[in-house]
Amino acid sequence: MTRCQRRWASVLGFGNRRPALSTHVPIAESPSYPYGNRRKGSTTPLSQPHGPRLLRLEFGHQPHSKLINAKSPSRKSMSTTASDLIMEDKLQSVTLRDQLRVAYPWTAAPLIVGAPMRVMSGPELAVAVSSAGGFGFIGPGEKPESTAADLETAKGLIASSSIPQHGSTLPVGVGFQIWNGNLDVSALAVSQHRPAAVWLFAPRNGQTDVDVWTQRLRGGSPDTKIWLQIGTLQEALDAVRSASPPDVLVVQGAEAGGHGRTSDGSGFITLLPEIADATRESGIPLIAAGGVADGRGVVAALGVGAAGVAMGTRFLASQEARIKKGYQDEVVRATDGGANTVRTHLYNHLRGTFGWPEQFSPRTIVNRSWAEKQAGATFEDIKKRHDDAVSKGDSAWGPDGWTATYAGANVGLIRSVAGAHDIVTGTRREAVNIIQTLSGL
Ligand SMILES: Cc1cc2nc3c(=O)[nH]c(=O)nc-3n(C[C@H](O)[C@H](O)[C@H](O)COP(=O)(O)O)c2cc1C
Repeated sequence: MTRCQRRWASVLGFGNRRPALSTHVPIAESPSYPYGNRRKGSTTPLSQPHGPRLLRLEFGHQPHSKLINAKSPSRKSMSTTASDLIMEDKLQSVTLRDQLRVAYPWTAAPLIVGAPMRVMSGPELAVAVSSAGGFGFIGPGEKPESTAADLETAKGLIASSSIPQHGSTLPVGVGFQIWNGNLDVSALAVSQHRPAAVWLFAPRNGQTDVDVWTQRLRGGSPDTKIWLQIGTLQEALDAVRSASPPDVLVVQGAEAGGHGRTSDGSGFITLLPEIADATRESGIPLIAAGGVADGRGVVAALGVGAAGVAMGTRFLASQEARIKKGYQDEVVRATDGGANTVRTHLYNHLRGTFGWPEQFSPRTIVNRSWAEKQAGATFEDIKKRHDDAVSKGDSAWGPDGWTATYAGANVGLIRSVAGAHDIVTGTRREAVNIIQTLSGL
């Protein structure tokens, strides 16, 4: 068992029990492990990180009847071929989904996560998402100290919510940006308030920085799981091979709103399955992020091996988001994200934010500032007009506006503001309907 598998096994209560399924097959027969740490010719069992290989699809709070028991006599009597192995390995993502449901018992499948968006995902949004059977994350605040205050607010909201009591941790998570985060202040907030998970993102120096944060946060709150958002295969490999691997990897595709990989990202539809193949033995579940705005995106993500999805931009258009009306209106208005969003540091700089590591840049809806830059205007000129527009309020956003409108390439799929509870339950319902329809194929 890897360290990660041991950690999950203890969450799941399987201790060091040997995995129930042991299919001894020379790994050389399986072409699906281009990166794994299995040696060619090894007879390492194809083990599950936990329990019997029951591939269970559960929808909503109702366990779905579709159980595939790989230990059934008929299954066992079949001779295992390379293609059987590939299929079993691909279906492992289904059992990893169960892993998350056990770890976060208030959640329903398919798992929908409210991504931590700086300032905009506050405690109201995070608790509303978790109340609907999703997993809500609070984003980094204006100041490092804001996180403790947000967690305190979340605690009060949870106490008066219908979310069932969940062990010693709060049924919400919290996000930190490593490159400019304050580890001392963040670690204190986490050890005092014990969110169920911390979502780390944007290290300046790669996994080395992530390890420092992971060890410190785990030291102060051992039951808090570490989620790490990455956007490349290499980042994923560095994470699973590190001394302190995360409990969950969030695979962020290039469509994502907010910051993501500047030049080496790709859509999760290709990135996630490649990472799944490369990290399978770690037993670390993958969450897909980037471009998901409704049930169709959820089904796509599950189909390529995600254990759940994280949505950011969709929740910008929620009643609970901490967002200005002009900004929210623009997210609802904008269409055709390919044409009307771009990755650029321009808006960071106009807002006075400098210093982001060059490997990350934000996706934003374009407006006059971008058009002027394209036309050759100087930064100083654009900045003057930007500041003037911001002083006038909500008109700073929109096609004739000047200020940052961070959002994903999925803006065209977002057509109205809704309550976060309805967004989560509606998206889940759509996904289940699509899966059930497709299952008739
Ligand atoms: C306005 C905005 C702010 C964001 N801020 C953060 C952040 O502070 N930390 C982080 O890890 N991710 C942040 N993200 C990225 C999200 O975690 C997530 O990857 C992304 O929203 C997923 O893509 P989607 O927007 O298409 O749903 C932000 C996204 C948006 C839209």
